[in-house]
Amino acid sequence: MSTKSKPSGVTQTRFPPTRMPALVILLSTATILAIFISFSTLSLNISSHSTTSNLHAAPFNADEIRVQCMSLRNLPGPSQSFLSRESSDRYEPGTNATLIRHAIIFTGEKDGNVTIRGDILLDKGIIKSIGKVPRWMVERIPNLTIIDADGAWVTPGLVDLHSHLGILSVPVMSGAADINSPRGPILPGLRSIDGLNTHDDAFELSMAGGVTSAQILPGSANAIGGQAFMVKLRRTLENSPTSMIIEPPHNLDGSKPNTDHLHWRHLKQACGENLRGYGTRMDSVWALRSAYNEARRIKNIQDEYCSKVEAGLWGSLNGPFPENLKWEMLVDVLRGRVRISNHCYEAVDLDAMIRLSNEFEFHIASFHHASDAWLVPDLLKRMWGGAPAVALFATNHRYKREAFRGSEFASRVLSDAGIPVIMKSDHPVINSRYLIYEAQQAYHFSLPANLALASVTSTPAAVAGLSHRIGILKEGADADVVMWDSHPLQLGATPVKVWIDGIPQIPVRSKTGKDKKIEVGKGKESDEWRQVPDVPNWDKERKEAIQWEGLPPLRGRTNGEKVMFTGVKQVWRKAMNGSVEQVYSASADLGAVIVENGKIICTGVPCLHSSDASDIIDLHGGAISPGLMSYGSPLGLEEIAGEMSTGDGEPHDAFKTNIPNVLDDSGGVLRAMDALMFGTRNALTAYRSGVTFATSSLAKPFYVSGSGAHVIAGLSTTFRTGSAHAMERGALVQDVVALHVVVGRPHPLLGQGVSVSTQIAGLRRLLYGWEGRDQETGLWFRRAAEGVIPLVIEVGNADIMASLLILKAEVEDKIGSRMRMVFGGAAEAHLLAEEIGNAGIGVILSPARPFPLTWDQRRILPGPPLSNDTALVTLMRHGVTVGLGVREAWEARNTRFDIQWAALESNGRINEQEKYALASSNLEDLLGIREIDWEMADMVAYDGGQAFDLSSKVVTVISPERQTVDFF
Ligand SMILES: *[C@@H]1O[C@H](CO)[C@@H](O)[C@H](O)[C@H]1NC(C)=O
Ligand SMILES: *[C@@H]1O[C@H](CO)[C@@H](O)[C@H](O)[C@H]1NC(C)=O
Ligand SMILES: *[C@@H]1O[C@H](CO)[C@@H](O)[C@H](O)[C@H]1NC(C)=O
Ligand SMILES: *[C@@H]1O[C@H](CO)[C@@H](O)[C@H](O)[C@H]1NC(C)=O
Repeated sequence: MSTKSKPSGVTQTRFPPTRMPALVILLSTATILAIFISFSTLSLNISSHSTTSNLHAAPFNADEIRVQCMSLRNLPGPSQSFLSRESSDRYEPGTNATLIRHAIIFTGEKDGNVTIRGDILLDKGIIKSIGKVPRWMVERIPNLTIIDADGAWVTPGLVDLHSHLGILSVPVMSGAADINSPRGPILPGLRSIDGLNTHDDAFELSMAGGVTSAQILPGSANAIGGQAFMVKLRRTLENSPTSMIIEPPHNLDGSKPNTDHLHWRHLKQACGENLRGYGTRMDSVWALRSAYNEARRIKNIQDEYCSKVEAGLWGSLNGPFPENLKWEMLVDVLRGRVRISNHCYEAVDLDAMIRLSNEFEFHIASFHHASDAWLVPDLLKRMWGGAPAVALFATNHRYKREAFRGSEFASRVLSDAGIPVIMKSDHPVINSRYLIYEAQQAYHFSLPANLALASVTSTPAAVAGLSHRIGILKEGADADVVMWDSHPLQLGATPVKVWIDGIPQIPVRSKTGKDKKIEVGKGKESDEWRQVPDVPNWDKERKEAIQWEGLPPLRGRTNGEKVMFTGVKQVWRKAMNGSVEQVYSASADLGAVIVENGKIICTGVPCLHSSDASDIIDLHGGAISPGLMSYGSPLGLEEIAGEMSTGDGEPHDAFKTNIPNVLDDSGGVLRAMDALMFGTRNALTAYRSGVTFATSSLAKPFYVSGSGAHVIAGLSTTFRTGSAHAMERGALVQDVVALHVVVGRPHPLLGQGVSVSTQIAGLRRLLYGWEGRDQETGLWFRRAAEGVIPLVIEVGNADIMASLLILKAEVEDKIGSRMRMVFGGAAEAHLLAEEIGNAGIGVILSPARPFPLTWDQRRILPGPPLSNDTALVTLMRHGVTVGLGVREAWEARNTRFDIQWAALESNGRINEQEKYALASSNLEDLLGIREIDWEMADMVAYDGGQAFDLSSKVVTVISPERQTVDFF
């Protein structure tokens, strides 16, 4: 948790002991003492036993010992008869049975290949019948709820194999961050369930995204971080963490194992960068080897003991069955009873873990993050006991050094190699409410549809050893079911209904017991939404990615002459007033567009007859539209978020009074322009995804693993994402854009930063003009006060926004000006929508879809299926100009899909023109970007669809200003 930690990645971001003051302090001396005591009294001493043959009378508890020895051979897994059970152990009396009729059911079976049309009957917490449900079965059930799905898609509840729900709960507070222990690299005795906060606001949000179960993994700051647990997200009758566990392992509460059905146990391991707190990679692997060596020694002693028991050599036994509480988990690993989730990124780390697995003969069920896995499939296959599964993010890559070669094509490459692929959230790194979006993106980048859906259902369930009950729809499995408003691989797919153990979770039941009536999926009535969307072909890009080991050149070929586009369905252009308008729509025949020197000179069917183009590109029903803008992340200011040496470095913080004398400026106002770096992979990836412009500031978007924010964040800059360097023509669009400040409560874990009242007092002073204009600070704040440049305030909390509204009125009154104030981030802005609208303040929502990460951001308007409205539509309804932003540089590429999600969640209340505005003209207005001339704006050509379609792919960027066309 230093300022150096990367902004993304709770699991990737370590809490190394030397750098985690907050958490260390939180563990009182008494706690530390208690841990010590329990370990020393509970660990039994194991000594080697005499092997002298010594036939003696059996002790009084001989049977018990025999049973215990025999049970060592049990392997986990359900009994033969499991699926013919009559009811679930999780069934809650009083739950009515439900019959879902006329559904298209993705069952999750056979790698996700099985889809059936029919009905599904949920009763007693299980799936009683699926497909053709016999009438007699339905007739004898009292209180049956019948749902007509009317052809909607039904899938198993989603399974998130990598989550920190409850152990890094939201809003994040120091009192409930129980994710990494500072006590050593090897901690197999720790259990995530001991830190599981049942009051995490995210449980309901994640269920609203169709997630019904998750593996709660300890963090990755330890080589062995502790035991993980598979839980269901719903509130149970008992309302306790333990009652959320799916198939609790017997060891949990000291109960005897059920020999008929031994439950799997789960363990978190890690390797690589996050273990820096305990030394180098060499130290970590040695720590793991030493640990497994100890576990093997204990296992051998146990086996030896039991061979004597079985031979009746009672006299040679030296004491009770040798057990060791500290190492028993790893002994169980060696006995094949544990599913290991191993956080591990690079080839060097994967290789070490696979050697470890072969040396000690145990299997690792899944590698997580695993940025290099797709580059070393043969290595993975050398794992003891067969290749592991690989759990990935779709496009969240490059955030730290070991993630630099991560690729959007990894899931397809791995699945081609026969390796099971899982998409995971690492919640709250990615809000697990949008786990399905990860599957959609993987599908967009060529993971087959069946595997994309399986990657969030049946595959993770199988890897967790639970495919007899979750991630799958079959008779006898748990009744965890999601009914969607569209095909789940369509962008914006939203659950209409969610059941867990047959109990309805979505729609949410209000405290008075009535289902909240929320509108879901308006505008998706037509049949096309029920189809799996088309996706582009990425064969060439995938091949190049492999060839270049994850770092393919991202710059395209440039043509400065004449290019003809055929198969054009739509053309959108900027109008003189800056807004984006449709200027061409093909009727029956698709049209053509001719570009010369970067300018469109002909649009329509007649252009097809021009024949002197040097390049002819078929867009296959695609579109040409203005390039989008990204705002809010450090795009263009860093290469790798987690590596200081690849970015601008730490700026000075005026509120800590350490501005260097040489600046001779009270606020130390800096310019992002001075920090720009071109050609970063995130910028070029964004460029190739239709994001041709970016405005970046030095304001660090607030993120839990990031630093405390700097209040005065300086002046932003607008640049072209595709440019090679600042001197290139058109590279710098506008050197100084807006003045940025960050106002918020202290960081919940670091606790640093000055008070909100100090921040606002400082702003008041500067806006009142009490600082001389002969200095940068005085000058720029004066300009902001006068409304010459916008003042963009990163702020989440509505109370702080209200204070800022008052401050704005005071300043305007005093100066006689009209300030151009903008709220960025703005998670709670909808609470003041009317006042913000009346004050003429703009809002840049970032992230586009809200998440209550901190106290300042906790009162979100979640949108369907939890609320009719979203923050976006609420603000727009009150006349607020709204733009959408991102927090991290890798996200910039997803701008077009993020817009589509936001639009689809609005239940049809945002039209095409408004979609473009969200990441172009509105941002330009709000930030005060004057220099993007409507005639000179970059245009993007999409093959196979429009900018916002999952089916489309950027093929070229047309640049009138540079008089070029870039081909990818
Ligand atoms: C699923 O379908 C694909 C495509 O038809 C096929 O290649 C694959 O073998 C199938 N998998 C199973 C387990 O049936
Ligand atoms: C049916 O519902 C009623 C009313 O909630 C309840 O009293 C009764 O026990 C239910 N019957 C069964 C078999 O669940
Ligand atoms: C179960 O069904 C009965 C009869 O329709 C109804 O009165 C009762 O409220 C239902 N119970 C629940 C928990 O929905
Ligand atoms: C949501 O909108 C629908 C349709 O307009 C309406 O029937 C319902 O009452 C609304 N729900 C809430 C909670 O406002």
